[in-house]
Amino acid sequence: MCGIVGYIGFRDAYPIIIKGLHRLEYRGYDSAGVSLFDKELKVYKKAGKVSDLENFVKDTDLGGTIGMGHTRWATHGAPSDRNSHPHSSGNRKLTIIHNGIIENYGIIKETLSNKGHIFKSDTDTEVLIHLVEDIQEETGLDLRESVRVALTKVVGAYAIVIMSADEPDLLIAARKGSPMVIGVGKGEYFIASDATPIVEYTKNVIYLNDNEVAYLRREDLLIKNIDNTVQTPYIHELDLQLEMLEKGGFDHFMLKEIYEQPRSIRDCMRGRIYPQEGKVQLGGIKEYTEKLKNIDRIIIVACGTSWHAGLVGEYLIEEYARVPVEVEYASEFRYRNPIISEKDLVIAISQSGETADTMAAIELAKEKGATIFGVCNVVGASIPRTTHAGVYTHAGPEIGVASTKAFTAQVTVLTLMAFYIAQQRGTITQSKLIEYLTELDSIPELVERALKSTDHIKEIAERFKDSTNCLFLGRGSSFPVALEGALKLKEISYIHAEGYPAAEMKHGPIALIDDDMPVVFIATKDSSYEKVISNIQEVKARKGHVIAIVTEGDTEVKGMADFVIEIPQTDQAFVPLLATIPLQLLAYHIAVMRGCNVDQPRNLAKSVTVE
Ligand code: G6P
Repeated sequence: MCGIVGYIGFRDAYPIIIKGLHRLEYRGYDSAGVSLFDKELKVYKKAGKVSDLENFVKDTDLGGTIGMGHTRWATHGAPSDRNSHPHSSGNRKLTIIHNGIIENYGIIKETLSNKGHIFKSDTDTEVLIHLVEDIQEETGLDLRESVRVALTKVVGAYAIVIMSADEPDLLIAARKGSPMVIGVGKGEYFIASDATPIVEYTKNVIYLNDNEVAYLRREDLLIKNIDNTVQTPYIHELDLQLEMLEKGGFDHFMLKEIYEQPRSIRDCMRGRIYPQEGKVQLGGIKEYTEKLKNIDRIIIVACGTSWHAGLVGEYLIEEYARVPVEVEYASEFRYRNPIISEKDLVIAISQSGETADTMAAIELAKEKGATIFGVCNVVGASIPRTTHAGVYTHAGPEIGVASTKAFTAQVTVLTLMAFYIAQQRGTITQSKLIEYLTELDSIPELVERALKSTDHIKEIAERFKDSTNCLFLGRGSSFPVALEGALKLKEISYIHAEGYPAAEMKHGPIALIDDDMPVVFIATKDSSYEKVISNIQEVKARKGHVIAIVTEGDTEVKGMADFVIEIPQTDQAFVPLLATIPLQLLAYHIAVMRGCNVDQPRNLAKSVTVE
């Protein structure tokens, strides 16, 4: 979490930085700040959103062709002006911005305090810049060396940028465990937590690796490892268009991203399915085909929405590829002593490709000899660079903090993986594969149709917008869809919502049902349809209000539910891709009607790079 931007070149730095911070606001938005150099080192910072910072600085001198900015998601120290970044050294000659956590900041702070350092904030970050200053003063080392030596003394995760009043033509950037991209222009360089602030200026980027320190001047860039050996960076070309980062006429990024799903699912399948031949091709994991024939078990690790996608994946992989699957919260998996062998395949799912817990789970599984595949959206992020192989979701940048199109793209990739593994292991016939892939190929059009219910969903939203609780129920692979529907609603509307397997309702949640309680059922026509109907009746008998997602043309559920939302008929395997759509729209409209900031819900961040 936290977004960082830096610039050194010939243009005014401030407009580039502030625009970049708006793009990175999904990473945190409780306070923001900038540091610029123009004759002197200036720092402006403010609690609140990036727009609050803009208002705060509007009458100030914002000149300078070198600078950096930060948008914060608080870890150490409450969101406030004084805890905002940049932080300064005691002599005010150095400033720093930081994304991550310095875990041993307490002990360093104590040592420095005993030496007379006075701290102005409660943050771990301020300690690091004082440490650099202290090393400079104690050892006489130059700034570059002092930063490098300081970094060898800290434990934790960081992406940092440092500026100095004494060396105003230099930006120092470093990373360990938090993302950092350097944009390479002509006579200018850009730094950012991801490529979105950079793409309009240059498509040439370097993804800084862990334990690397970059020294950027207008005319050159030097990258060294923390042990002081010079590195030769690889320059990647970005495949990212500016329009992908704009709202394109929609009121919110979330709504735009919901409506992008026919396209994003199509992009995700492009070149990967051949319905007429009954073939799935996944180039990213091709070299592991033999391995897939012999694996004993698949463990899926992920967090949040990606974990829900993993649960859908479990149903699909077990059903079609007949391999046992376990789905684990990465944050729990990493702190157990899991039994993992070389015959296990671990699939790490992550939209951002940066989630700290998922990264740690990968490291653990790697140490134990498992093969690791990634299912990520952000190209070049840390997870796809750590895993042995993987499949990108190609959903395009997702900016709304609540994940929508990334979820359906993850489910699509897992569906492809299930069929791919089934194909390799011979657990599916060619004719069945032709049938499934033909149906899968039509899913983008069916999603398009599901999106047409939006007006009806708005009416339902109007009816339930003031609810305080909501239950989401489903069975089979619709259970994770229920979890995802509940998560969407609570994330953006702050209504307490819970997802449950429909049959489990009787073991607890049924106690909550009264004439105030909306209950959303996924009641599509599949093998558990009759059972779900019984559950609907149980809710109705207790005066609950039923909103049911049903298959087009259904009459039975229509007769008993208060509201129904139809989705097109499809094979049971693909219901999650369709049933998710109305739940996203329901959460969106309710949140808008409640006046919530749907793109930036309180306390959340899109990329969770801390534990
Ligand atoms: C945060 C986001 C969620 C996301 C989760 C996992 O909580 O707000 O939308 O599902 O992190 O992120 P990842 O990038 O690993 O999918």
